Amino acid sequence: MKAITIPTPGGPEALVLSDVDAPEPAAGEVRIKVAAAGVNRADVMQRMGHYNPPPGMTEIPGLEVSGVIDAVGDDVSGWVVGDQVCALLVGGGYAEQVTVPAGQVLPVPQGVDLVDAAALPEVTSTVWSNVFLTANLQPGETLLVHGGSSGIGTMAIQLAREVGARVAVTAGTQDKLDVCRELGADILINYREQDFVEELAKATDGHGADVILDNMGAKYLPRNVEALATAGRLVIIGLQGGVKGELDINTLLRKRGAVIATSLRARPVAEKATIVAAVREHVWPMVADGRVRPIVHSRHPLAQASAAHAEMEASTHIGKILLVP
Ligand SMILES: NC(=O)c1ccc[n+]([C@@H]2O[C@H](COP(=O)([O-])OP(=O)(O)OC[C@H]3O[C@@H](n4cnc5c(N)ncnc54)[C@H](OP(=O)(O)O)[C@@H]3O)[C@@H](O)[C@H]2O)c1
Repeated sequence: MKAITIPTPGGPEALVLSDVDAPEPAAGEVRIKVAAAGVNRADVMQRMGHYNPPPGMTEIPGLEVSGVIDAVGDDVSGWVVGDQVCALLVGGGYAEQVTVPAGQVLPVPQGVDLVDAAALPEVTSTVWSNVFLTANLQPGETLLVHGGSSGIGTMAIQLAREVGARVAVTAGTQDKLDVCRELGADILINYREQDFVEELAKATDGHGADVILDNMGAKYLPRNVEALATAGRLVIIGLQGGVKGELDINTLLRKRGAVIATSLRARPVAEKATIVAAVREHVWPMVADGRVRPIVHSRHPLAQASAAHAEMEASTHIGKILLVP
């Protein structure tokens, strides 16, 4: 089959369309003939050599796909050849076929195009597990989402709005903030021109954010702690602003706050299956009735994966970028 490999880490041109052996499903796995793969920031890091796959896992990038099941391994129930699905992967999505543990597979939600369904597994699993299962966002609370127009951000806004939370976002341009508003955000902060701590304080009468979903890591750590409400929860999922920051424990202590950092990819298969099951139970009904939708910015042929990565790095996109074999 055709797949993208990374013979030497580097810029977007490091992604090379190659001929590789098609994978065979092991016991407990299905194989998917890929209709589309989602592009994630983590893939860019992997391409640069900064985010290697867990030991023993495929080196082909790609953390999510949609497609049709074309083979089923032993000991799999609930899925048959021909099912239209999408799936959360540990890697291997930038390919014509990929194998995945059956517990990480979801049906394509009613009303969603097969290709667009590739935009769903990573963002729904990341947002549901972090914002709801871990940080326990409640109706009436305020969620601050950094990078509101990102793949993750566009899903976080919609899900938080649906559970009745108030959503604040940061983004780098007015166009992106406008889209965030359409999706349900009502506190809009241009991080290039405004201080998000001040703006959030103004908009919430000094309350701050009950939950913060952070993609910046070190760069925003002090200001995120400042922006937290009493008993607030800061969940760091990205390190775009570096890995080592200074934590003001006194401020955190006075607020009785929590700082949590998580990675989805490294979790054991059973934990991923639990998250995917929760997504299917809680998020899928909102997608099936159209309240929540995948936000797809562009589709690129798999052979032009480098153009898709260049687009992500230019950060001109709003929502998800997809690759179509
Ligand atoms: N830990 C996990 O399990 C997990 C899982 C999935 C994703 N993630 C992380 O979640 C983040 C989003 O992922 P994605 O795939 O959705 O990426 P993406 O679409 O490329 O989004 C990146 C975002 O970063 C924003 N950004 C850049 N500089 C910023 C700043 N100074 N302040 C606020 N926002 C800034 C960009 O906003 P502008 O375009 O407006 O500049 C853009 O919205 C990434 O950091 C990724 O690594 C983590």
